[in-house]
Amino acid sequence: MSAYLDNAATSWPKPEAVYLAVDAFMRQVGATPGRGGHWREEEAARIADEARGALAQLLNAPDPAGIAFTMNATQALNMALKGILRPGDHVITSSIEHNAVWRPLKALERRGVAVTAVPCAADGTLDPADVAAAIRPDTRLIAMLHASNVLGTILPIGEIGKIAHDHGILLLVDAAQTAGVYPLDMASMRIDLLAFPGHKGLYGPHGTGGLVVRPGIQLETWVEGGSGTESAPETMPEALPLRLEAGTQNAAGIAGLLAGVRFVLEQGVARIREHELALTALLIAALREAPGVAVLGPAELARRTAVVSVTVEGYIPDQLAAVLDQVFDIATRAGLHCAPQAHRTAGTLETGALRFSPGYFTTADEVREAAEALLSIL
Ligand SMILES: Cc1ncc(COP(=O)(O)O)c(C=O)c1O
Repeated sequence: MSAYLDNAATSWPKPEAVYLAVDAFMRQVGATPGRGGHWREEEAARIADEARGALAQLLNAPDPAGIAFTMNATQALNMALKGILRPGDHVITSSIEHNAVWRPLKALERRGVAVTAVPCAADGTLDPADVAAAIRPDTRLIAMLHASNVLGTILPIGEIGKIAHDHGILLLVDAAQTAGVYPLDMASMRIDLLAFPGHKGLYGPHGTGGLVVRPGIQLETWVEGGSGTESAPETMPEALPLRLEAGTQNAAGIAGLLAGVRFVLEQGVARIREHELALTALLIAALREAPGVAVLGPAELARRTAVVSVTVEGYIPDQLAAVLDQVFDIATRAGLHCAPQAHRTAGTLETGALRFSPGYFTTADEVREAAEALLSIL
């Protein structure tokens, strides 16, 4: 028995094409986009641009050139939050944010940015009317996750996008738990800035991610350095993506990310979501068989991603995860999942929870075996 149920942290395994693309890039291309006037550099730049094009297609992003690559979603979120917010600005967020949004906001609060966290219900659901009610004359940005990595709850980003748009406020979405696994359309959802990890639902390697910026939004830079071209000025170039991509990029990772995004486009997000939701339903039903198990998050399946966190009466989640790992080779994640705010909202800040997160490559048998393993421990 063996199962990897930690796809909400990083997806594994990857499609075969991703392994091959990274290997081929490292052996056959090797160079860095924008650095060096030779065919290898041109090929690296072509691959990076193709990745931007594939991502723009997947996300219905307004302009592929507005996609800057980063190491992960955290960097993209920091880039956006610190590039937009100034002392005296007000920002609205939710009460279930990951530390990748919460900690930068707390750092900005210390520098004079006002932060309002709109309370979600214990299952993570949020009423868009509460977001509208939190708007003030100085509100500059709404920054929110699309889905919770603890509760699986999907927030109504389309409705929030309309509210933001009607009030002339920018919307930044943390798509860490939805990019590649849930339909995203930046145009119809009126998303101005979108942060994504490459290593989760897009099947890229570690060290990949990015920020998508709608044309016309000028971000202050938070990292400055070499941009490959336009080197003479003492400031970063104005044009995207160069403005946000200081230093040598993870070119081999981006080649892998391109293969991952192509895989998602080929399979189709709808099919991926259908498979993951079927596994989620199976998992929830099987876990509920176990005595003392409480499943966190919304009861309605359509409002969830493939993240199933549980508490078990009388057991410490970390101990359960350790036994699942050591005895059954089943990878889960216990604790606070870098999201104490979500646990506070759910009422599990003291205990944490045990999280199962199946992915597109997970089988129904693996999910059943994981639930049986938990039952046998109990
Ligand atoms: C909701 C959410 N936001 C942000 C992040 C941070 O992503 P990364 O590890 O790519 O920085 C995660 C990762 O778990 C997440 O689940």
